Amino acid sequence: TRPERVADEAASRPVPRTMVAERKEVSVLIARVQLMPDAAGVDPQRMDEAVEQVAATIRGEAECLGGTVAASIGPISLVLFGVPEAADDDAERAVHAALTIRDQLTRIADPGEPDGGCTRGVSVQVAVATGEALVRYQPDRSGVPPTVNGALLDECHTLLSDTRAGEIRVCDNTRRSTGFAVTYQHGSPSSGWTVGGFRQEYTALHAVPVIDREYDLDVLRGLLQRSRHQATPHLVTVLGEPGVGKTRFVMEFERRVAANADAVRLVVGRVRPGGGAHPLEALHDLLLACCGILQGDRVETMTAKLNATVRRLKASEEDCRWMLSCLAPLVDPAAAQAPPGEMLTAFREFLGAVAASTPLVLVFEDLHWADQALVDFVENLTASQAGLPIFVIVTAGPELLKRRPEWGEGSLNRLTITLEPISDAAIDRLLEFLMSTTEGGAKNSVGGLLEALLESGGREPDARRHQLRRILASGSASLRYERCSGGGGLSAAAPECTPRLSGHAYG
Ligand SMILES: Nc1ncnc2c1ncn2[C@@H]1O[C@H](COP(=O)(O)OP(=O)(O)OP(=O)(O)O)[C@@H](O)[C@H]1O
Ligand SMILES: [Mg+2]
Repeated sequence: TRPERVADEAASRPVPRTMVAERKEVSVLIARVQLMPDAAGVDPQRMDEAVEQVAATIRGEAECLGGTVAASIGPISLVLFGVPEAADDDAERAVHAALTIRDQLTRIADPGEPDGGCTRGVSVQVAVATGEALVRYQPDRSGVPPTVNGALLDECHTLLSDTRAGEIRVCDNTRRSTGFAVTYQHGSPSSGWTVGGFRQEYTALHAVPVIDREYDLDVLRGLLQRSRHQATPHLVTVLGEPGVGKTRFVMEFERRVAANADAVRLVVGRVRPGGGAHPLEALHDLLLACCGILQGDRVETMTAKLNATVRRLKASEEDCRWMLSCLAPLVDPAAAQAPPGEMLTAFREFLGAVAASTPLVLVFEDLHWADQALVDFVENLTASQAGLPIFVIVTAGPELLKRRPEWGEGSLNRLTITLEPISDAAIDRLLEFLMSTTEGGAKNSVGGLLEALLESGGREPDARRHQLRRILASGSASLRYERCSGGGGLSAAAPECTPRLSGHAYG
């Protein structure tokens, strides 16, 4: 399959009337992934499974980083960043996705890995180009994938054809907007540049301690104590603009809960960009975490753990059977589906029973992406749990309130916190801290890198703050990536507050 066919396919798709056509700055990523079965010959069914796994990996990695798969034909996938909304760091997200796609697929194909038997090798080439292009998209991301046309796509194809297996090549535009974060090896403005990896200094820069959130953290801590000691449900909504620090704030709270000796169970359900692969994915996350199910557990193991958990929580045999019949499809796709309403009722009862055994903190991340049914479920959760220590934290962008101006009405003990951008004073203290950090007596590389980065924005205090804010915010995609791809959120596992970039530092 030639890459051009992706463009033809994308261009020939019917354009629904609700699509918006716009020339805008985007980053396009094209990946070509070829599976190389062993000479011994691989069973076609396993080969099909491997192909599906490749597609799912590309989609998962891209979506975690805010990209949208626009087309996928044979070995070629086309992913767009910057549609519908453009962000400052679209190019950086695209390069990050290129790295994780390449690394994940190489790992899947490694025969040393348990799952690697089906493909004894894989050839991955990825190219990224950034610039203006004509894109058509549905502003609300509902269902129909966006399309892209024009010279940018051709440029990306050309880059791809010059890319060797295992390499990632980007255009000069992409290199210029990501050079502060990513190292590049040989290349030229005309032929593109080969990606080395994330700069170690840049990775380190995102490991700064949480600043300027002590009062907000105190509010959560106090409410959790109230919920526990007075056995009463609470719903706290943490609202904020993209990149303001919602995830980091909640992760810091999670870290403190985990570090505390109090018996509290904390589980996280993440709503993926655009709603994810399944509308109830967030509930699936919660169920796995509550039952101690690990990523990679087989269906039988998952079912056994669900059985054991429900039987521990529910005394009556009848209740157990009903709850299991409703929840089983969440872990076993082959199980008979209960009507959706009944499944949600069973899930609510399940969470209540978990909270009755140990105070429960439920985090719903990025609820603005959830569909109606899930938003209703979360909103009504505390109302139905009177007398139980159940503390629900929702993070969301302001669009949640646009969609649901009456959000949370009727919930017990409801509070909304709007996270403000980190204050100038705190940014200045952070600058001072970073500049003065020493390692083994010498100023460390973060200080050095910062100086260079801040110089590039100008010497005025405002310009320096703006630049530091921009660099901090650029960690948001990695944080989401870490959250989406991370394991459960049980209190046993203290969340790492450092973006997972270090695996890519080659340069
Ligand atoms: N209080 C803070 N102290 C230090 N760094 C912070 C703080 N808040 C946020 N950051 C950093 O800023 C970046 C963006 O934060 P975060 O991802 O939490 O924002 P967000 O509001 O969840 O964004 P999104 O809407 O994209 O999910 C991250 O790199 C994070 O580590
Ligand atoms: Mg977030």
